[in-house]
Amino acid sequence: MPNALPFKRLTTNSTEWITVYIEGQPVKIRQGDSAAAAVLVAGLQPSRTTVVSGSGRAPYCMMGVCFECLLKIDGVENVQGCMTPACDGMQIVSQQQARQLNRTDFSDSDLSSANLSNKNLTDKKNEDPSV
Ligand code: FES
Repeated sequence: MPNALPFKRLTTNSTEWITVYIEGQPVKIRQGDSAAAAVLVAGLQPSRTTVVSGSGRAPYCMMGVCFECLLKIDGVENVQGCMTPACDGMQIVSQQQARQLNRTDFSDSDLSSANLSNKNLTDKKNEDPSV
């Protein structure tokens, strides 16, 4: 039976297989495949849910444009799976809605410059509502 999908693996020199863990389950993929490719191989759908409505999404463009491939990889949330080469033992789980931010994710200078930027924007909006 001919392959009904338009996708075909490119011929590569890689014959090595690695194991990644998708939602804790081992999945064998080729060395050089991306984390998003691993998710597609494993059939993890949806691989993320949206921030606003919580609707399901899966990798789409596989070239860094659509951001539908956001995953939690090795404990780091909102990683762009199609731009992340998979490595042996990688832990990949679905990204559920918004990334959880901790106070420790930012330095004091990050926070003060963000507050300054927000203040400048608020000041501009007060001066010119079209901004
Ligand atoms: S699949 Fe589109 S940015 Fe990753």
